[in-house]
Amino acid sequence: MSRRKFLIGVGSLIAGTVLATACKGPVPTPTGTPTIVPGTGLCEGATASKSTDELGARLTSCNDVISYNNFYELSFNKDDVANFAKEFKTSPWSIAVGGLVNKPRTYDMEEILRRFPQEERIYRLRCVEAWSMVIPWQGFPLSRLLREVEPLSQAKYVRFETLFDPNQMPGQILGLLDWPYVEGLRLDEAMHKLTILATGLYGKPLPVQDGAPIRLIVPWKYGFKSIKSIVKIDLVADMPETSWAKENPREYGFYANVNPAVDHPRWSQASERRIGELTRIKTLPFNGYGDEVASLYAGMDLRKFY
Ligand code: MTE
Repeated sequence: MSRRKFLIGVGSLIAGTVLATACKGPVPTPTGTPTIVPGTGLCEGATASKSTDELGARLTSCNDVISYNNFYELSFNKDDVANFAKEFKTSPWSIAVGGLVNKPRTYDMEEILRRFPQEERIYRLRCVEAWSMVIPWQGFPLSRLLREVEPLSQAKYVRFETLFDPNQMPGQILGLLDWPYVEGLRLDEAMHKLTILATGLYGKPLPVQDGAPIRLIVPWKYGFKSIKSIVKIDLVADMPETSWAKENPREYGFYANVNPAVDHPRWSQASERRIGELTRIKTLPFNGYGDEVASLYAGMDLRKFY
């Protein structure tokens, strides 16, 4: 990134800090397709096998998916993330998988795409800020990669880390979070069949603003768990300290399961705004995936483990 662009980036980030809202509070959301969409070409030839999810909800338009983003390393302003994404380099890229495993190893992206057949998953993404989208991702179950490295019996959690590169990610100069962005899952959550690593959306490679070249998607949890642009995955014994839980433990828990019965301390989680639609809809427990995942939390008080 040129020095000028970098400085402009930092300036815009600082200006945006005052308004910074992602994971800080509900924000006004666009009600239609924005008129100017940076990187619209990314949606040319966009395809999906269906036009709705399994509950009959319409897919969010590709243009909305790629132009309304939370990616604080690039910009605090959702509408500006796509602009900062333009010069971000996603090649070469590799992911180091290690920690408590028998076979630690580093995968480069080409190998990941070759080794793990990609499949489409149409999932609802529910942000903790009470907006949501329905997105057709391409990816593969995280369990397939974890099985390859053979977790040891002491491994109880999985820790994920985003790239740290302030030259490309001006947000990392500012102290909003303790960078790099870190997320985590319990091992059984990570091995669940719904948990994927996504490498594409709408039949095309993942755009930078959505976490290229590879990100986590855990559809029954608030969106901040779905960490973008991953470079490191570690199997660990103890619950990892995750970025938002570290920043504000009262507001953001480790579990972060979508739960309309437990409000965020500053706003209700009972309903959500689907991006591109006018009316609010009711938020579903576990984001509508309860039949598949509720048993993971049997016996747990989900008010305490939020
Ligand atoms: N991952 C990183 N590294 N940095 C971020 O700022 N934002 C999270 C999550 N993953 C974020 C991240 C939040 S708050 C949400 S809601 C989703 O990404 C948004 O994903 P999207 O922009 O593809 O819709």
